[in-house]
Amino acid sequence: MSLLAELTHRCPLQCPYCSNPLALENVRNELPTDVWMRVLDEAADLGVLQAHFSGGEPMARKDLPELVRRAAKAGLYVNLITSGILLDEASFIPLVDAGVDHVQLSFQDVTPEGADLIGGMKNAQARKLEAARVIVAQGVPLTLNFVVHRLNVERIPQMFDLAEELGARRVEIAHTQYYGWGLKNRATLLPTRAQLEQSERDVAAARARFGAEMAIDFVTPDYYADEPKPCMGGWGRRFINISPSGRVLPCHAAETIPGVSFPTVLEDGLESIWTKSDLFNRFRGVDWMPEPCRACDRREEDWGGCRCQALALLGDAGATDPVCRRSPDRSRIDAAIAESADAPLTYRRMSNHKTQ
Ligand code: SF4
Ligand code: FES
Repeated sequence: MSLLAELTHRCPLQCPYCSNPLALENVRNELPTDVWMRVLDEAADLGVLQAHFSGGEPMARKDLPELVRRAAKAGLYVNLITSGILLDEASFIPLVDAGVDHVQLSFQDVTPEGADLIGGMKNAQARKLEAARVIVAQGVPLTLNFVVHRLNVERIPQMFDLAEELGARRVEIAHTQYYGWGLKNRATLLPTRAQLEQSERDVAAARARFGAEMAIDFVTPDYYADEPKPCMGGWGRRFINISPSGRVLPCHAAETIPGVSFPTVLEDGLESIWTKSDLFNRFRGVDWMPEPCRACDRREEDWGGCRCQALALLGDAGATDPVCRRSPDRSRIDAAIAESADAPLTYRRMSNHKTQ
């Protein structure tokens, strides 16, 4: 259904919960324009409906208008996922002309101080506000995305105020997911149970306030749940992620899985990778599952949870997601909940990877 095209890992921001891998891809390894063009055509042929241009910051790629045009021509719904830092009228109008359908604009907070703290960049908020105005003025549907965590979760009501003021049609309140950079900063970012419950009440109040006028997505941290989320809607079922260098992955974090040869669009076509590669077939369906998933009546609802979470916390991508109360390793999650600390944030920078 969806292709997430991570065009680059370059980004002016340094968010400490970034979903990119700790080992960021150098610009020298980025796929050239013509390969992305072929990949977009192959995705449409394979039945993909939506192309999400992401990064890093996709607007750091000079060829973005060409890629948007090609995706739109192939019949794909084109979504731009951006920080807005590089987005102004001059850079956005070519994307509108090329056929961009929707923009998802990230905000790190509602206050300039909070935004500076998380983005690691001065005056980012003003540029984001301006980007939102440009997008709405061009008549392109806008979603505001707020990643929430212990340091900003209490400002959810103000996040909805900002979305209304800016004319956003959709708001996504997404609790931080704890892989990669988020896992590195988990002790500082993981909210308390009381904060989580307040965030649920705040989102419910916003749903009552806006009704059908604003679509609201709410992603909760699964650490406080008893059962895991169906990560990516199930491994290799509806989602393809392509890294800046062309690795084709079932999710954004799969590159951490050891002992796997990663298929790349430089060596194979998308259909062959989707249907035949070891990586996409490794955790597809239910045959790979260990107990307790194998005999569980939820196995075709959550597909055993998240493989990357199992790997990150247990060292085994083939284990039951430890979020699950039936997992023998649930104590790892409960220990993480107990370990909160006000440690300094480790920002997403190439130079900060080695400290892992
Ligand atoms: Fe999901 Fe496996 Fe837990 Fe069942 S045992 S709820 S399939 S993670
Ligand atoms: Fe990789 Fe969940 S992020 S399976």
